[in-house]
Amino acid sequence: MKKLVLPIVFFILSGCYYDSEEALYGKPGSGTCDTTVSKFSTQVKPILQSNCYVCHSNTSASSSGAGIQLQDYANVKVYVDNGKLVSSIEHTSNFPMPKGGGTLSACDISIIKAWITKGALND
Ligand code: HEC
Repeated sequence: MKKLVLPIVFFILSGCYYDSEEALYGKPGSGTCDTTVSKFSTQVKPILQSNCYVCHSNTSASSSGAGIQLQDYANVKVYVDNGKLVSSIEHTSNFPMPKGGGTLSACDISIIKAWITKGALND
C-alpha cells in the first residue's frame, strides 16, 4: 500500500502545477513590458550597464570592447545614428551583441527601440 501512495501524491502535485503562458509571462499587451517611459538614464543605460559595460564602459572599452564606448550618452548616440546599436542587439549585423553571450531579452530590445523611436533623447 505504501508503494502506491508516493506515485499518487506525485501525480496530484504535478497536476496542480499551473503553467499557462499567461501566468508565467503575463498577458500579451497587459503592460508587463512597459516601453511607454523609455528614457536613457532610467531604462536604456541600466540595460547597457548590466549587459555591455563589461566590455564597453569608458574604462573597459580599450581592452575588451574594440574601443567602442557605450557609457556616455554622446557615445551611445553615435551607434544609434549609424544603426549599429540596433543591428547588434537584434543580431542582424556581423557583430551580434552582447558578444559571446546570448541575446538581450525581447523586452530590453523593445525598450531600447522605443527610446530610439522617440528621438533617442538624453533624457
Ligand atoms: C565580451 C565583450 C563584449 C560585450 C559583453 C559586448 N560587446 Fe559589443 N563589441 C565587443 C567587441 C570586441 C566588438 C568589436 C567587434 C567584434 O570583435 O565582434 C564589439 C562591437 C560592438 C558594436 C559595433 C558593431 C559594428 O557593427 O561595428 C556595437 C554597436 C556593440 N558592440 C554594442 C554592444 C552592446 C549594445 C552590448 C550589450 C548588449 C555589447 N556590445 C556587449 C565586445 C563586447
